[in-house]
Amino acid sequence: MIPAKRRKLGAPAAGPVADVIRFPHVAVFLLEKRMGASRRAFLTGLARSKGFRLEDSYSPAVTHVVSEKNSGDEVQAWLETQTPAGDADRSVHLLNMTWFTESMAAGHPVKIESRHRLQVKAKSGPSAVTNTMGAYACQRKTPLEHHNAVLTDALLLLAENADFCTNEGRSVAFKRAASVLKALPGPVRRMEELQGLPCLGEHCQRVIKEILEHGASSEVEMTRHSEHYQAMKALTGIFGVGVKTAEQWHRAGIRHPADLVSSEHKLNRAQRAGVEYYEHLRVPVTKAEADRIGEIVKRAVDAVLLGAEITLTGGFRRGKQTGHDVDFLITHPDEGREEGLLPKVVSWLEARDLLLYQKTNKNSYLEAKEWPARPPSNMDRFERCFSIFKLQRPWAALEEPPQSGERGAAETPGWKAVRVDLVVTPVSQFAFALLGWTGSQLFERDLRRWAGQKGMSLSSHALYDCEQKRYLRATSEEEIFAHLGLEYIPPGERNA
Ligand code: UTP
Ligand code: MN
Repeated sequence: MIPAKRRKLGAPAAGPVADVIRFPHVAVFLLEKRMGASRRAFLTGLARSKGFRLEDSYSPAVTHVVSEKNSGDEVQAWLETQTPAGDADRSVHLLNMTWFTESMAAGHPVKIESRHRLQVKAKSGPSAVTNTMGAYACQRKTPLEHHNAVLTDALLLLAENADFCTNEGRSVAFKRAASVLKALPGPVRRMEELQGLPCLGEHCQRVIKEILEHGASSEVEMTRHSEHYQAMKALTGIFGVGVKTAEQWHRAGIRHPADLVSSEHKLNRAQRAGVEYYEHLRVPVTKAEADRIGEIVKRAVDAVLLGAEITLTGGFRRGKQTGHDVDFLITHPDEGREEGLLPKVVSWLEARDLLLYQKTNKNSYLEAKEWPARPPSNMDRFERCFSIFKLQRPWAALEEPPQSGERGAAETPGWKAVRVDLVVTPVSQFAFALLGWTGSQLFERDLRRWAGQKGMSLSSHALYDCEQKRYLRATSEEEIFAHLGLEYIPPGERNA
């Protein structure tokens, strides 16, 4: 039997990544200083051949810096020079070679113990007071309502713009900084209050300082009004359109969804629906609408499989009052009964003219065939339906729709298009799916990174312990937090 994902043998020592990356959430950077270029190249090739992710240069994506014969303070000083843009992520681990060699021997990133860490002298200063905040979003409570919206809106706009420029590292750095500010107990008034907080690089601090002093950041305002940002925001706002496509269209002179209607650009089925319902889908979905859709989905599910259960997840489960879509998990207490459920649910809905668009993917997750520590990417492989619901507006259910008249009602039809994601999970994976689909995105990202750093691999399907070489089962989110050695954070405080 040939494993489906057999590694390429004889990959060049330190060439471009030719091997399968098995631990994408552990991004290792080897410091060349005192190690030397040739030893570094050798170790890089070795690690890559074992499925490790080795970065050629330092970036905010790096999670583990490994050095040889350097003191912690030297590495810390070097790290501070590496972030001219100031996006330094202070959650990066500074490690000695023992972590690296043990990980090579184990064939996976081993859990970081204190003996692996370089000792960095805490900077002595007046303000060792402020900060006990964990550097991972999953270590802290982030409420929905917080005290620093002006600052976080600014940083999140820069994050969004970095996404539009396909600079993920930068985007994540801004999101992390915003998330730290969301978790503060009160509004930031002076820069000194930020001392010692994690994830606030120089660039973020510069933006914050300008807002605190002048009420706004020139960089943020310039970005907000830039043509590229506005066009990318409009185009990526189309259902079915990602940054890559939007960027191509932008280069071809497209600025707005309306430009696509008359252009010769080919749209796929999802994008055609996205353009057609653009004006509907840009209006946020309310909690009341989510609940009404929940009732419809419940009726559909009940009709096709007795005993199936549905759960509202995503932002609404975290307490949000509006969202860009509605996310549901569907399961059945008897494992296996849920198989093939979705096509039947879809037929039920279609027969009642409740769907404007749907695309259903089959479940492609099979634990037995899984590379255990496989990249827990956030694309999971459940049976899943991306859909657009046709939701009747409340007044449309009344006897007399307002001002029916001729077809002039096209501007406010009696229904609203709403994005709905339906995800079916076997009950044995339900807790993982629930944790994975509740979000927020940054919270999930940090959960997976945290797990990686603990020698585990977390996905929306399962948690695998790379050291014990076994899956850790759970029937509740609480158990998963416990497996990860984390304090339980309820959904309402995962708004990182
Ligand atoms: P959403 O994108 O729906 O975000 O994904 P949200 O928090 O509900 O925000 P709004 O209100 O809709 O804008 C919900 C969660 O589901 C996960 C994401 O990581 C996020 O945490 N997700 C999403 C997946 O696990 N897989 C996917 O394919 C999509
Ligand atoms: Mn959602």
